[in-house]
Amino acid sequence: MKILLTGGIGYIGSHTAVVLFDAGFDIVLLDNLSNSDRSILKRLEELTGKSINFIEADVRDTEHVEQVLKVHDIDAVIHFAGLKAVGESVDKPIEYFENNISGSISLLKAMQKTGVKKIVFSSSATVYGEPEYLPFDEDHPTSAVNPYGRAKLHIEEILKDICNSQKDFSAICLRYFNPVGAHESGLIGEDPKDIPNNLMPYIAQVAEGKLRELNIFGDDYLTLDGTGVRDYIHVMDLASGHVSALNFLDDNPGWHAFNLGTGSGISVLELVKTFEKVNQLTISYKKKSRRPGDAAESYSDSSKAKKLLHWSAEKDIGDMCRDTWKFHNKIKRN
Ligand code: NAD
Ligand code: WQD
Repeated sequence: MKILLTGGIGYIGSHTAVVLFDAGFDIVLLDNLSNSDRSILKRLEELTGKSINFIEADVRDTEHVEQVLKVHDIDAVIHFAGLKAVGESVDKPIEYFENNISGSISLLKAMQKTGVKKIVFSSSATVYGEPEYLPFDEDHPTSAVNPYGRAKLHIEEILKDICNSQKDFSAICLRYFNPVGAHESGLIGEDPKDIPNNLMPYIAQVAEGKLRELNIFGDDYLTLDGTGVRDYIHVMDLASGHVSALNFLDDNPGWHAFNLGTGSGISVLELVKTFEKVNQLTISYKKKSRRPGDAAESYSDSSKAKKLLHWSAEKDIGDMCRDTWKFHNKIKRN
């Protein structure tokens, strides 16, 4: 089976590429390099021992994508490509809708023209909005709290409409919780170009000495230690969820949504303490006021994925902290 990964050299795409390769899939990576670097290709080749099929292209270029789908005889697409900074989406909504929604429509048009009928879409737990109950299951009401989330919701709904109109089309929306960590080799991982918005890369840069201290946003939530609670998931577990999703698509046309999380809530302080313990170092931090828009807690009920995809997360928070730091040490040396 030949799979096109849009956004394939980004953080989650590159890890998924390795896992797909190991599972015996043929892969083609497409990316416009807006938030990634060609140097990943060399590392992917080191990890897979094979040369990687990479195409520099923008998903908004329908004709180019169409040509790629045709020339490479693609059977299914995993659609990672998109902009992902929530705060930036509030400042630049048109850019986000243009890239993420128009980009998805362009890809879907190219798929329709070439008869590719299977897609796995990178959705997000952000589609649940503020929790009405926890853990979030796939039946939890959805709502958008920022343009980034609104785009994810729209794309999910566009996919639903396509599945309704074309009975042999299948789409899986994977609602990721908080992806962190890196490939166990330390060769690939998350390396934000700017100051990180997310907690784990921020902690890693404090550990590295690149940032002075971590700001902990809020210590007065009604949680165990007052800090925010999230469902962190190791990126390699997340990657293997895509293999399970592709296998499921084969026999299950129609629209499906699955949570990918561990089901466990970890607080900011717990994450900091685990990072310190497993990596034998100290993270300086300061407690600050809450970050606007943050929920106190978010964690998944991922039992649907366990039951239907036969997938569950295997790595724990210690593995996530250890592999993150291994990657940071390695790229610092290279
Ligand atoms: P990333 O930025 O590392 O990867 C996305 C890749 O898409 C980048 O390499 C970028 O260059 C590419 N890209 C962006 N726009 C493109 C376009 N128009 N055409 C072609 N390529 C384009 O991000 P990631 O963390 O790997 O996220 C992958 C997907 O998962 C995104 O859709 C993101 O919204 C979603 N997601 C991420 C998280 C997270 O916390 N990382 C959580 C939930 C969902
Ligand atoms: C986690 C916890 C913060 C940074 C975001 C997006 C979501 C999804 C994943 C794409 C919270 C606290 C953070 C810091 C801190 N992305 N924190 N200091 O907000 O759960 O989710 O990324 O789909 O849509 O919203 O992740 O890593 O930013 O925050 O104290 O410097 O860490 O308040 O409690 P979040 P995060």
